[in-house]
Amino acid sequence: MSIVGIRGTFFDFIDDPWKHLGQESAAARFVADGLMVIEDGIIAECGPYAALAGRHAGLEITHIENRLIVPGFIDGHIHVPQTRVVGAYGEQLLPWLQKWVFPEEVKYKDRDYAREGTRRFFDALLASGTTTCQAFTTTAPVATEEFFEEASRRNMRVIGGLTGIDRNAPDYYVDTAENFYRDSVALIERYHRHGRNLYAITPRFAMGASDAMMRHCEQLKQDFPDCWINTHISENPAEIRALLDLHPDCADYLGVYEKYGLVGPKFSGGHGVWLSNDEFRRMSQSGAAVVFCPCSNLFLGSGLFRIGRATDPDMRVRMSFGTDMGGGNRFSMINVLDDAYKVGMCNNTLLDGSVNPSLKDAAEAERNKLSPYRAFWSVTLGGAEGLYIDDMLGNFEPGKEADFVALDWNGGPAALPWHQSLSYRGAGPETVEEAADLLFGIMMVGDDRAVDETWVMGKRLYKKG
Ligand code: GUN
Ligand code: ZN
Repeated sequence: MSIVGIRGTFFDFIDDPWKHLGQESAAARFVADGLMVIEDGIIAECGPYAALAGRHAGLEITHIENRLIVPGFIDGHIHVPQTRVVGAYGEQLLPWLQKWVFPEEVKYKDRDYAREGTRRFFDALLASGTTTCQAFTTTAPVATEEFFEEASRRNMRVIGGLTGIDRNAPDYYVDTAENFYRDSVALIERYHRHGRNLYAITPRFAMGASDAMMRHCEQLKQDFPDCWINTHISENPAEIRALLDLHPDCADYLGVYEKYGLVGPKFSGGHGVWLSNDEFRRMSQSGAAVVFCPCSNLFLGSGLFRIGRATDPDMRVRMSFGTDMGGGNRFSMINVLDDAYKVGMCNNTLLDGSVNPSLKDAAEAERNKLSPYRAFWSVTLGGAEGLYIDDMLGNFEPGKEADFVALDWNGGPAALPWHQSLSYRGAGPETVEEAADLLFGIMMVGDDRAVDETWVMGKRLYKKG
């Protein structure tokens, strides 16, 4: 058995900060001088160094100094084959897919191209502190194979699957529903729960799926109920209108996925920008999750996701955060938090009643405010809950997988260190509040330059510089 120790300053979560209104620090756990003991990649214990070190004489300890050690970030929605096309100019969702995305993704039929793109994808994730993602691939099985193979080489926990589309894409890109079913079965049998791989049945989006494709997805979920379901939902107004024309029997976007029995635990819909209150309520009741992708929602002009609605305690929806790279123009979940905060603030310009007094809603406005506790919970334990993987990772509980990031709170633009020095007096943060202030500085003034080291299953896979 391999046993290693990590000494440093640890910050993780034991609960959802939205449940601790006015006292969010109660959801966090902070250990200024801590020790994490890792056995074969799994956390054996994590707590104060002074209390634990005596019990582990002879343990080989790596001391990570002047860093905040947080759980590895979870990207709940990202596209592997868009790595190269990130940040493409000038279009909203539907024309952007046609102009930029399908021509790039079709290259992933070629195994060598898929392998290179996938390697670059995982390099970019690790440099961003992201240790787990739920990913889209393409219609080509080789792209999904390369995704799971590369994740396995790095021993990273991932969710992904063959990404089906049989209409509303160019002929050179679409595949048939029958091929999708056959290839999905083969990939599930080969990869699902092999190593750290988890399989998501992945209809790309309802608009790209014929009735036959949706029925095959329904069949796959019945045949493999342990699998996840990953798709897009209610992202762009033109898309929503076109979809409802195709499904006149459905009242709304969620209704299309419901019609085929896909909505429930382990279902994720990316974006959800235009979900109605009733759709939020139905998602909440079914245990389905929405993935908030603010970089993408802003970059593609899709709209402002209503965080304060999704977090309404009367109809709370499970929620992960995602980059949606290349719809999102960044790989970093730190950038996602930056944009997420600003979306909440823009929502509140309406909710404070100054534009229209009848829209005033102080409670929803409060929930829109992305404090550092809410933010970092959302990309760690909360993101894991959204994806139903919190039994495996998301915080530093014994038994969980030892994936973590060492953040340099001064790593970023030249202006950052002096700003951060407002937040603590000693050599580093000594209280949970000081640590949270530094995290807020990282997400609003800093960026992925704060990611100094990324560790996966107790092994360091990335070191800055
Ligand atoms: N809807 C269908 N495909 C995509 C995609 O690749 N990106 C985004 N943002 N939305 C989609
Ligand atoms: Zn997407």
